[in-house]
Amino acid sequence: MKVLKRRFIFLFIVFYMSETLAINIPQIVDVPQCANVPENERLDCYPQTNANQEECEARGCCWIEPNESVKGLPYCFYQPKAESYKFTNVTEIPDGINAFLERSSKSPYPSDVSVIQLIVTYQSDTTLRLKIIDPNRQRFETPFPEVNLPTPKTENPLYKFVLGDDKQGFKIVRRSDNTSVFDVSDLSNFIYSNQFLQITTKLPSSNIYGLGEQRKHLKLSTDWNRITLFNHDTAPQDHVNIYGTHPFYLLVEDTSNANGVFLKNSNGLELILQPSPALTYRAIGGILDFYVFLGPTPSDVLKQYQEVVGKPKMPPFWSLGFHLCRWGINDLETTKKVLQRNLDAGIPVEVQWNDLDYMDKHNDFTINKTAFAGLPEFVQDLHRQGRRYVILIDPGVSGSEELGSYPPYDRGVELDVFVKNTTDQIFIGKVWNLVSTVFPDFTHPNAYTYWKEMLKQFHDVVPFDGAWIDMNEVSNSEFPYGCPDSDLDHPMYQLHTEGGTLQEKTLCMTAKQHLGVHYDVHNLYGISEANITSRALSEILGERSFIISRSTFAGQGRYGGHWGGDVYSTWDELRYSIPHLLDFSLFGVPLMGSDICGFNDNTTEELCNRWMQLGAFYPFSRNHNSEKLRDQDPVAMGEQVVRSSLKALRVRYSLLPYLYTLFWYASQEGTTVARPLVVEFPNDPNTYDIDTTFLWGSALLIAPVLEDNPSSISVYLPKGRWYNFYNRTLLESVGESFNISTDRDTIPLFLRGGLIVPMQSPAATTEEVRKSDIKLLVALDENGKAKGNMYWDDGLSLDVSSDYTLLELNALQNTLELTSLNKGSTGLPKITSVEILGSSNGVNNKSILIDNLSIDSYPAKVTWPMT
Ligand code: GLC
Repeated sequence: MKVLKRRFIFLFIVFYMSETLAINIPQIVDVPQCANVPENERLDCYPQTNANQEECEARGCCWIEPNESVKGLPYCFYQPKAESYKFTNVTEIPDGINAFLERSSKSPYPSDVSVIQLIVTYQSDTTLRLKIIDPNRQRFETPFPEVNLPTPKTENPLYKFVLGDDKQGFKIVRRSDNTSVFDVSDLSNFIYSNQFLQITTKLPSSNIYGLGEQRKHLKLSTDWNRITLFNHDTAPQDHVNIYGTHPFYLLVEDTSNANGVFLKNSNGLELILQPSPALTYRAIGGILDFYVFLGPTPSDVLKQYQEVVGKPKMPPFWSLGFHLCRWGINDLETTKKVLQRNLDAGIPVEVQWNDLDYMDKHNDFTINKTAFAGLPEFVQDLHRQGRRYVILIDPGVSGSEELGSYPPYDRGVELDVFVKNTTDQIFIGKVWNLVSTVFPDFTHPNAYTYWKEMLKQFHDVVPFDGAWIDMNEVSNSEFPYGCPDSDLDHPMYQLHTEGGTLQEKTLCMTAKQHLGVHYDVHNLYGISEANITSRALSEILGERSFIISRSTFAGQGRYGGHWGGDVYSTWDELRYSIPHLLDFSLFGVPLMGSDICGFNDNTTEELCNRWMQLGAFYPFSRNHNSEKLRDQDPVAMGEQVVRSSLKALRVRYSLLPYLYTLFWYASQEGTTVARPLVVEFPNDPNTYDIDTTFLWGSALLIAPVLEDNPSSISVYLPKGRWYNFYNRTLLESVGESFNISTDRDTIPLFLRGGLIVPMQSPAATTEEVRKSDIKLLVALDENGKAKGNMYWDDGLSLDVSSDYTLLELNALQNTLELTSLNKGSTGLPKITSVEILGSSNGVNNKSILIDNLSIDSYPAKVTWPMT
């Protein structure tokens, strides 16, 4: 009896310890089995830094040091079929599956959830959702992106859900060819604990794109590539977490079919791509909520993704003009002087910006009344010229002004909208304000009222046209009261964030917001601010608002655009700005561009020359740099840069109707504006690695010069007909690279045969461009065919889905047919000429003048003679 009792007490203690202290019950390490695991397939069992054999084996894992050190290769890895969660119950439910999994032993991480629930929803024929939750406790779930999914509906799903043989894992398989699209059949490293959730999916190929925001090439490296996503204020650098979080990838399978996966989770994330290839997700909170998209083309995947996160909002027409900005323009006189010298040189500056220099003591919603006296009149004057004005707004407001003297603080207190600390006092930090900063909680129910009031009151004084929302990671550089000790600031698993702690350059993780602790909602600060700013500004202006936000999260495109942040003025950054732009295309944020000529450090004439050329083809085109540096507006950079800028911007302005049409399709269908070649040509594997050139839509290939003054550059043109944009000569490609000779003034551009591009005449403002006649540039393919569209509206109003004009253009057998699919209230400019490239087999080009081909005469035909 005594023995039994002792045994019982012993068992109870073991049970109790394993429950509360989460002590791992080690599995026996099977050494020969360990040696059988190929290096590329190792699943890291000790992702913390400083793994050692003893602690590794205490976790029941294999320890093998490789002969040669390979960066990122884990020495400590899971044994094959290591014990983990197993299915205990799987039930078919309408539109999906409901299942439970249980683990018998503890993971090394505190507060394991021993029973978890998997809910599979067959959302549509191409999209399914896999949601893994704790059935016994509500965990944090991000409300962003704010999209209501349609009721599930499937007819012929492209996928099937396949349960693992040993009840261990599962996979999503493409029915047509049995490709495992989302393969978690090995759950050995699967962990679902309170502050550490981990799962690995084997990938069907290494052609994987997305997963940002990161400074990287377009195609991701799978060479033990660790990507940390925790929004952070720092200049883009390799392997460092920067401003935004987009846990979405696009993958092109070996068959050229494409799939994609989105993890909806706003907690800090770490993603590991390894060569097998496989992708490990680690989240330090929230739930695992995956959306799997079956494509089958890359553009299908992107559309399916945007059904879930929301399609981008339509930008105002004017915002596609050229923007001039810089930090350190300390007074209005200098702002005017810089603008004027550029206008005098013919640079079509559409939008003048001011950085925080315009503020009094760097406080939001104030004007420096001495240096910027006359700002309201200046803005009115810009408006009279048909130009626009955008201001910087930081999220943090001053916390140290005299009570009653600074409404942004006083009103915020009244409405109780500031982020709080653990004792429910306002959280105090410091950004640009002279003494201290407090931070609006944009998830608070009163935040909209508060922010709209602030914007409106300021707008009544300075009628700005758009908002540049910065520092919203949220950035903070001081903690006058420290951070209380907590698992939130120091979870057992520390993400590999810059600075080593989560609170680095932001708030304490314990800080309280309406939606939850900052630990859970940190990555949502920027998007919640963008959401409110975009809505408030639309209401104030009564038209489409324009927002550029530094911090972003999945779904950002619905509220506005993004810029590349504090990039250095180097050739490397010029080059990386292309994958950065294209990543945001994949993320459904087409309004994007980096600071032209670079932000940090002095630029050079050669670099700025090439950057102005490339920047003219960023969908969002703005020259901006940091304070205390040389001026880098085109005129300040000298004649060469002015010449290049004029040439490139004239092309941009002449293509505005095409660019605007691309934005409309993006807003309606989730297509891309700046498009990676792989998205347009998935059947051509030569395009998979390309990120030095890109397309606008399907028709225009942009091949920037990314070094000083080469005599030629090599440009890959996928199979088909291409025309040199400038001299209209034909390049017939079998899918090959061409040596294109270059000069300092020109960015090489190619038109793709088979497409029709609507154009107008370049002018000093977009308003002028909009009044000019339309010319249709018809680039015929080898069969004498081409097609295209043109979208037209007033450029401003909120309604972009009923009051608009849409032309369909079709060229075939020497005839161009114009049809209108929709006719809106804003008159379409006259179409007065058609230029045909490749009009005969001998490839002649022709220009035809048309007399007032107005939309009332549609359907209309333009015919040209055979030669
Ligand atoms: C941040 C922004 C930069 C801006 C500066 C001053 O560094 O990224 O664009 O000029 O703050 O407001």
